[in-house]
Amino acid sequence: MNWKELEERAYVPYSQKPKACIVRGESGKFYPGVRIENVSFPITIPAIQAACCICLADGDLPSELIVKKDPNLEQFDFWVKEFKLTITEQEDIKAIEFIDPGIDIKPADIKNELILLLKRAITTYSDFPVSALLFCKDGVISGTNVEVSDWTKGLCAERVAIAKAISYGYTLMESMSLHTLKGEFSSPCGACRQVIHEHMPDNQIDFHHADGTLSTHFTGDLLPFSFSSTSLTK
Ligand code: THU
Repeated sequence: MNWKELEERAYVPYSQKPKACIVRGESGKFYPGVRIENVSFPITIPAIQAACCICLADGDLPSELIVKKDPNLEQFDFWVKEFKLTITEQEDIKAIEFIDPGIDIKPADIKNELILLLKRAITTYSDFPVSALLFCKDGVISGTNVEVSDWTKGLCAERVAIAKAISYGYTLMESMSLHTLKGEFSSPCGACRQVIHEHMPDNQIDFHHADGTLSTHFTGDLLPFSFSSTSLTK
């Protein structure tokens, strides 16, 4: 792995300025994070948010931030303070290896996996765990919601799954299943719908509701009259 290869995973159709970083967890495991832009710019996920949330959703604690020397780095201050991260500027990342997060799940085991995943959610402030499974062409990627002291910097389970998929190079997203234990109806929030729409505009999405029922939908129906101006990329 080198920085260019990692940066190539970034989803930056609007700025064309790829960004990437690596977080080392307390366990010693390395987590990649890349910038994931959205047609609605404020919903963009910076590389550091992706890497820290992926690390936290893995049950690990961010301890070191590895970046390349770059004068145009994104803002790291919140994350550095929140987790007392040490910062290492490193040009050569050849020795760093990532563990493939892809899992193999049979359709009959989806519900069980979603229930097990809920235990990994970090819901310090809401006590509202959510789990998501993102079915990509090359494997299944999990996500749980992650909350940090600044609520605006955590991520929902759906966006953790999407950020993880993209940061690890899983590009072809085919469908998603999600689950919550609480509430009447499991359903993605508006920001997640916007991000889901960007990567899976017309795909299947299954909601496993708290009462044990399942409803199947299409992502295209979740965001009618959506903001998706193609002129932004011109
Ligand atoms: N949450 C999700 O994970 N997905 C959604 O679509 C709705 C909200 C999480 C975010 C936060 O951790 C908690 O639920 C309360 O908003």
